[in-house]
Amino acid sequence: MSEGKAGRLAGKRCFITGGASGLGAAIARAYVAEGAQVIIADIDVAEGQALADELGGRFVPLDVREEAQWIEAFATCDALDVLVNNAGITTLGSIEEVTLDQLRHEFDIDVAGVFLGTKHVIPLMRAAGGGSVINMSSMTGVRAQGNLVAYNAAKAAVTHMTKSCALHFAQQGYNIRCNSVHPGAIHTPIIDKVLAQSEDPAALYQSFVDVHPLKRLGRPEEIAAICVYLASDESGFATGAEFRIDGGSTI
Ligand SMILES: NC(=O)c1ccc[n+]([C@@H]2O[C@H](COP(=O)([O-])OP(=O)(O)OC[C@H]3O[C@@H](n4cnc5c(N)ncnc54)[C@H](O)[C@@H]3O)[C@@H](O)[C@H]2O)c1
Repeated sequence: MSEGKAGRLAGKRCFITGGASGLGAAIARAYVAEGAQVIIADIDVAEGQALADELGGRFVPLDVREEAQWIEAFATCDALDVLVNNAGITTLGSIEEVTLDQLRHEFDIDVAGVFLGTKHVIPLMRAAGGGSVINMSSMTGVRAQGNLVAYNAAKAAVTHMTKSCALHFAQQGYNIRCNSVHPGAIHTPIIDKVLAQSEDPAALYQSFVDVHPLKRLGRPEEIAAICVYLASDESGFATGAEFRIDGGSTI
């Protein structure tokens, strides 16, 4: 692993789930550019290892649904300053279309994954003297859509779990902060996967654009920027908050 350099995150040890692709990869790049040491965790071993090698970071294989894998991954760390609970999937469909198995799969990754990471990182952040947990929710965790019942419910759960953890950490005097980030539609592979599930991808893409008063999709770098702020000491008074970076979609 590269030693921390100068920058807003100099010396910070940062663990990013779903770091092999999309927003997680953009966050890893931005963190390294600001002097952080990054650990990329993902089920995609090939992409995750390649990015870690490119950035001078470290890769650990991790399926966020599996508690034993979290314990094993964290056993390779002495202390951590930042956890980005970013890994997630999007299940398209209304209450009439989504099956119970699909709902459970969505919750296993998007909710239980965040729960497990946050639970098991506590000793590592206390060993670091404090830390910042950053949970990737969504604009749809705030504003529902009729065709995203499972995803809406999962991301709303992440939003509120964040606040519960923020309060607990503050009450315990752990110096650990916990915030949620709410991107609008950002053009990453997850968007392509959602479009691939649709009968009319062009119409669905336009509907993503139209949701945003700024009339465009966001860029991964625009989400990485708020995650740099939340990882840095600049955000020391922010906890339990929702950071909506969504082109105005939740106004
Ligand atoms: N792209 C968007 O428009 C958007 C908007 C709002 C919120 N988000 C959220 O941002 C996060 C990242 O999304 P993205 O757009 O970068 O998606 P992506 O599909 O490009 O990347 C997701 C990453 O998570 C990994 N992953 C999936 N299941 C996993 C598991 N069980 N364990 C470990 N890793 C796993 C994938 O391998 C992949 O590398 C997700 O939580 C998503 O819900 C995305």
